[in-house]
Amino acid sequence: MRYRWRLVLGIVFVVLSNYFRVWQPKLIRKGLDYVEDNLEAVQSGRLSSSEVSQSLLYFGGLIIGAALLSGLFMYAMRQTIIVMSRLMEYDVRKDILSKYFELDLAFFKRHPTGDLMARITEDVSKVRMFMGPVILYAINVGFLFVFVIYSMLQVSPLLTFYALLPLPILSVSIYFVSDIINKKSKRIQELLAGLNAFAQEVYSGIRVVKSFANEEVISKHFDNQGAAFQQKSLELARVDAIFRPMMMILIGISTVVTVYQGGLLVVAGEISPGNIAEFVIYVNMLTWPVTAIGWMASLTQQAAASQKRINEYMEMEPEIHSGAFVPTDFVGRIEFDQVSFVYPETGILALDCVSFIIEPGEKVAIVGEVSAGKSTIGELLIRNYDVTSGSIKIDGINIQDYDLSFLRKQFGYVPQVSFLFSDTIAANMRFGNASVTDEALAQMAKNIAIDEDINQLPEGFETLVGERGVTLSGGQKQRVAIVRAFLRAPKIFIFDDSLSAVDTVTEHQILSYLTESLAGKTALIITHRLSPIFSYSRVISLHQGKMVMPA
Ligand SMILES: Nc1ncnc2c1ncn2[C@@H]1O[C@H](COP(=O)(O)OP(=O)(O)OP(=O)(O)O)[C@@H](O)[C@H]1O
Ligand SMILES: [Mg+2]
Repeated sequence: MRYRWRLVLGIVFVVLSNYFRVWQPKLIRKGLDYVEDNLEAVQSGRLSSSEVSQSLLYFGGLIIGAALLSGLFMYAMRQTIIVMSRLMEYDVRKDILSKYFELDLAFFKRHPTGDLMARITEDVSKVRMFMGPVILYAINVGFLFVFVIYSMLQVSPLLTFYALLPLPILSVSIYFVSDIINKKSKRIQELLAGLNAFAQEVYSGIRVVKSFANEEVISKHFDNQGAAFQQKSLELARVDAIFRPMMMILIGISTVVTVYQGGLLVVAGEISPGNIAEFVIYVNMLTWPVTAIGWMASLTQQAAASQKRINEYMEMEPEIHSGAFVPTDFVGRIEFDQVSFVYPETGILALDCVSFIIEPGEKVAIVGEVSAGKSTIGELLIRNYDVTSGSIKIDGINIQDYDLSFLRKQFGYVPQVSFLFSDTIAANMRFGNASVTDEALAQMAKNIAIDEDINQLPEGFETLVGERGVTLSGGQKQRVAIVRAFLRAPKIFIFDDSLSAVDTVTEHQILSYLTESLAGKTALIITHRLSPIFSYSRVISLHQGKMVMPA
């Protein structure tokens, strides 16, 4: 473990803190016994009361000193162990994130976003609770028990036995109550998660909700869920309310037993009255940690479950593996050889024995009715998925042999549904290439015919888009996504229906820019309508996953 020295240091602090903690009851006993022993001397005038009060002040000072030292080491142990848990939490989060990036698209299709979020936030927090507070507490309680019980036994084994008698009852009853509390809390958390997910969905789809005037239906559903949540929370509050008084009663019983049995022992001359006070404090020192054992047990269980869920993801292997090949010159001659592809999630045969060759510099249109398999060609080229059979080669080399990152950098891919991040327009465009200058950015915006749209926005390129910013029109979004792809200066372009939301004039302007300025670059243009004014080098026509003669 990376942080084992921190843990060792933390344990040292725990020992010191508890060592000074058990000083306090001992000093109190000494103080009380001192008064008791000298009572006669004061009454008979052999000892002045100012001398007694001075001695008592001395004891008081020592007690405060011990408390301060114990507190100081407690501070130090929290600083080491809790900080350690935070460092580990950070490491685990980073590991999960890099795992997410390593995994392929199919993984993200299979696991809902909420699930991915929950593992990296809640589950990691649960594990941290174990690594920090629970471990800290367990060590602390362990040493406290050793010190306190050792001190108790030194005074009187019999009294120790009586004083500790109610503790097992306390821990067993607490175990049962905390079990009930845990079950209820879990149910509440589930309800809350459902409530959150539902609310999130409604806010995201607020346009649909409003345009269909369906607020009432949604409100009603929300009310029902809210009411269930409320009811469960009230139930929990009730159990919680019984729990505390019950604890107090048990602690009280323990104290009464100690005082009673201790009194008998004092009368028998076996212990001093100060010992009783000492014992009452010991008992109080122990009861609270005992109540925490149930809490620790449940947190440990939760942490174990969370760790299991995290491991499940960490042990997953991506199905798309990177090759090692990085060519010195990459031309971009694409060759599909008998490519068939079945989507693993649905079993749908999206491409069926498709073969074609695209020479460098060709501008090829891919057409076909809906769900003919057009987008699938793009997905396979950038290796979001791997072919089921057949092969795809670029420059004569199977794409699975290329270094994955290198391969993907050769593409400028504009997906069918453009996605813009909640950031400025400029930042969204620079996602394709972070080092582009402002001038080059503006020039590219002009080439793609979106500059006028942007200049009309309040802050031009610095306008925020997405969730917290302005909403761009479908055609504007598409063109921002196109600029993003162009700024990469890739060898091969894939436009997946990327001009569907722009008018024919703009479409023509963009395609002309592509042919004139990017003569050497290969482009696959997936489209539903062949622009009458643009001449493609070739048209590939698909029908239900098969290549057919263009209509
Ligand atoms: N991620 C996916 N998981 C499972 N099946 C998929 C997935 N993507 C597409 N499909 C299925 O594969 C088939 C081909 O889909 P594809 O997206 O390639 O069609 P398309 O020609 O691009 O259609 P459109 O013109 O509507 O965009 C369809 O039947 C579709 O339902
Ligand atoms: Mg498509």
